[in-house]
Amino acid sequence: TSAPDSSAPAVATPASGAFLDAVRGRATDHVPVWLMRQAGRYLPEYRNLKERHGFWEMCRTPELAAEITLQPLRRFPLDAAIIFNDIVTPLPAMGMEVEFAPEPVLARPLRTRAAIEALRRPDAEEIAPFVAAAIRQVRSAVSVPVIGFAGAPLTIAMYAVQGRGSKDYAEFRGLLRQDPDAARALLGRIADVTADYLRQQVAAGVSAVQLFDSWAGMLSPDDYREFGLPFARRVLAAVADVPRIYLAVGASHLYPLIATLPTEVVSVDWRLPLSRCRPLLPGKVLQGNLDPASLLADRAVVRAHAHEVLRQAGGRPHVFNLGHGVLPSTPPDNVACLVDEVRAYRPEQPPE
Ligand code: CP3
Repeated sequence: TSAPDSSAPAVATPASGAFLDAVRGRATDHVPVWLMRQAGRYLPEYRNLKERHGFWEMCRTPELAAEITLQPLRRFPLDAAIIFNDIVTPLPAMGMEVEFAPEPVLARPLRTRAAIEALRRPDAEEIAPFVAAAIRQVRSAVSVPVIGFAGAPLTIAMYAVQGRGSKDYAEFRGLLRQDPDAARALLGRIADVTADYLRQQVAAGVSAVQLFDSWAGMLSPDDYREFGLPFARRVLAAVADVPRIYLAVGASHLYPLIATLPTEVVSVDWRLPLSRCRPLLPGKVLQGNLDPASLLADRAVVRAHAHEVLRQAGGRPHVFNLGHGVLPSTPPDNVACLVDEVRAYRPEQPPE
C-alpha cells in the first residue's frame, strides 16, 4: 500500500536527504528521482533562453548556467540538481576547439601522435572556472544536493579523435589498433585533466559526481579493460570524498568489469531490467532505468512503466532515473507525472 511508514520520524526527512541516502546504500522514505538531461531542450523556458544565447555562452556564463540548472527544479520536485554544462567543456582548456551544431564538433580532430603530444595540461583552476561559479550559485539557491559531472576519458577521447558523435567511431577504433600507445597517452592526459576538473567541482560544493561514459558500450570487454577501465578508475579514485555515479550506455556486456570500478552507483540503461543488472553489479546501488521513450506515450503508460521500474528495484536502495537522457520531444507534463508517480511510491514488500 502507499500508507506512510509509521516508523518514519515525526519530522519529515528533508527531500535533500533521499538522494544522498540512496547513493550510500541507505533506506529512504521515498525513492529519490532526478533525470539525465533534466535541463534542456524539452523545456520551453530553456528554448526561450537558447534563442538569445549561444550554447557555449550559456555554459560559460554562471548566471545562465545556474538559471538553466534551476529550471526543471521549479517545475518538478526532483531530489537532485545536475549542473548545466556539457561533457566536452574541459576540451578548450586543453587546446581543442569545440563548436555546438547542436552536438559538439571539433574544428581539428586529433589524428596524430604529434597532435596528442601538443595538448595543453591546464592548471586545475583554468579548466572551467565558470562551472565552479555556477555550482556556488545553484548551491545557494536550492536545498537539494547538486550533482557535478564530467565525461569519462574513453568517451571524451572518442569525441576528440573522431571529431563528432559517430555510429561506429571508426577513426578512434582505428587508432586503438594502429597506435595503442598514442591512444593511451591521450586517455592519460584526459584522465588527469578530468580528475582535476571534478575535484574543482567538489571544492565548489557538489555533493556527488557522475562520470558519463556514454559510448563505452562500443568496445569489446578486452578493449574496455585496456582503454576504458583504468582511466575511468583513475578519475573516480580522485573524487573518493563524494558519492560517485558511473554511466555507460549499451554496455551490459561490460558490467562484470564496471563492477570493479570505485563507484558507489552504476547508472544502467533500459536494455536489461534492474533485476538482471543487479547480479552483474554486486555491491553497487543501481540508478535508472526507465526507457526515455516511455515519456513520449500517454500518462497511463508513463505511470505503468515507472511502476515496473520501481517494482524491479524491489525496495533496495535505488535512484530513479531514465536509462539515458530526456528526449527533446518529451512533454514536460509527462515528466511531472513521472516524478509524482515515483515520489508517491512505497515498496509493497521490504527487501528480504
Ligand atoms: O540536464 C543535464 O543533464 C545537464 C546538462 C548536460 C548537457 N549535456 C547539456 C546539453 C549534460 C549532463 C550533458 C552530457 C552530455 N553531452 C553527454 C553525456 C550524456 C549522454 O547523453 O550520453 C554527451 C554524450 C554530450 C554530448 C552532446 N552535447 C550532444 C550529443 C549534444 C547534442 C544533442 C543532445 O543530446 O542534446 C550536446 C549539446 C547539449 N548538451 C545540449 C544540452 C542541453 C543541447 C544544445 C541545444 O540546446 O541545442
